[in-house]
Amino acid sequence: MSLDDFCADGPKGQGLWKRAEQVLPGGGVYLTRSADFAGRGVVPGFIEEADGCRLVDVDGRKYIDFLGANGPNLLGYCHPEIEEAVRRQAAKGVSVSFFSPSMIETVEGLLDYFSGFDWGLLSKTGSETLTFATRVAKQHTQRDHLVAFDSAYHGSAPELAILPPSGPLTRAGENVHRIAWNDAEALEALGRRVGDKIAGVLLNPLDQNPRQITQDISDDFRNAISAFCDRYGSLLILDDVRHGFRLHPEGSHKYVGLEPDILCLGKALGNGYALSAVLAKEEFRSAAQSILYTSTHHFETSPMRAALKTLEIYQRDNVFEHISRAGEQLRAGFVTAAEKSGHAISYSGPVTMPTFLFQNDPKCKKLRLFSRKAAEKGAIFHPSLNWNLSLAHTTQDIDEAVKIAAAAMSEMPV
Ligand SMILES: Cc1ncc(COP(=O)(O)O)c(C=O)c1O
Repeated sequence: MSLDDFCADGPKGQGLWKRAEQVLPGGGVYLTRSADFAGRGVVPGFIEEADGCRLVDVDGRKYIDFLGANGPNLLGYCHPEIEEAVRRQAAKGVSVSFFSPSMIETVEGLLDYFSGFDWGLLSKTGSETLTFATRVAKQHTQRDHLVAFDSAYHGSAPELAILPPSGPLTRAGENVHRIAWNDAEALEALGRRVGDKIAGVLLNPLDQNPRQITQDISDDFRNAISAFCDRYGSLLILDDVRHGFRLHPEGSHKYVGLEPDILCLGKALGNGYALSAVLAKEEFRSAAQSILYTSTHHFETSPMRAALKTLEIYQRDNVFEHISRAGEQLRAGFVTAAEKSGHAISYSGPVTMPTFLFQNDPKCKKLRLFSRKAAEKGAIFHPSLNWNLSLAHTTQDIDEAVKIAAAAMSEMPV
């Protein structure tokens, strides 16, 4: 079968793409990167309904989903208790004059849950948390340079953009020094050159980028980061927007083995409702106080209730254990399916949010073929982004998905 035989968008989906091209740049945000990256035609573009770990697209095709809304779907789409908490709060007012108790309760809940932090602030997106965290670091240190690693994504601020267009937007990132992941020597050399200018070090808990094998932090690198921050007085900002709740039940800093000054959370925090949070240590409170960080919708009450309920269910239902088990089952199923069909694969990253690649597939053509075949058979395995396990994935769901993956692989040339 050639790549063109099946299009993941049915007639309605294709019609929506045509309309999208008229009104959205590039047809949509990911597509400004490339249609290929977005998986256009490989996975469905438009979803009508979501429930648990299942999606129905606008053409009525049904799927088991492993993208998880690119992170937020931690407990399952439309989790009844989350929806109920949101409905109750919404009935009392979504955006209201003045503050709501839910804001205080949510920050208190987060500070109780994640040890080692003294204050917090809520916002809507992960990008906002990174922008705010870097501003706090700059204000506190009175410096304006940052360190970040490889092509790690830290949100959409021009300063932190990984694919800036040429011209003035490129210059926005001139004070951000990008170092290769796990290159302790490069970090030390950077320190010798400009260490006293560095306000903060931005760290993702893992090096997990699209279409690359995921890599953990090495011992040398962990030590080098810690020594760098101690030596130059730079703040360690852990960007846990993507990995939060899926690497370690108490926060990804426990997985990484470093103690961040500022922790950024988002994505899964509200199980689909837009909420993000910065948590930080006492000594940075006065810097934070001097920065205007507000937005009309930061005070929206329902996502705060969603986040509080998410935290409660996460602990009560041992969600981390569940997604670890489900992820291990998926991994084992993929390894067996690949062995049987003779494909050399690489399945990297934590099992709760794996990165799947075929070996010797530099342009990811095989991967796209696989994703497209899996979609045709009823499972979403995104061809560019890491996958995300959720509480809604049962043993039966994973069995079904593994059968689909095995069938897709068996139809593909080795
Ligand atoms: C590691 C990381 N940081 C920050 C962000 C930005 O979060 P948001 O898209 O909610 O602005 C993302 C989003 O994918 C992310 O993966």
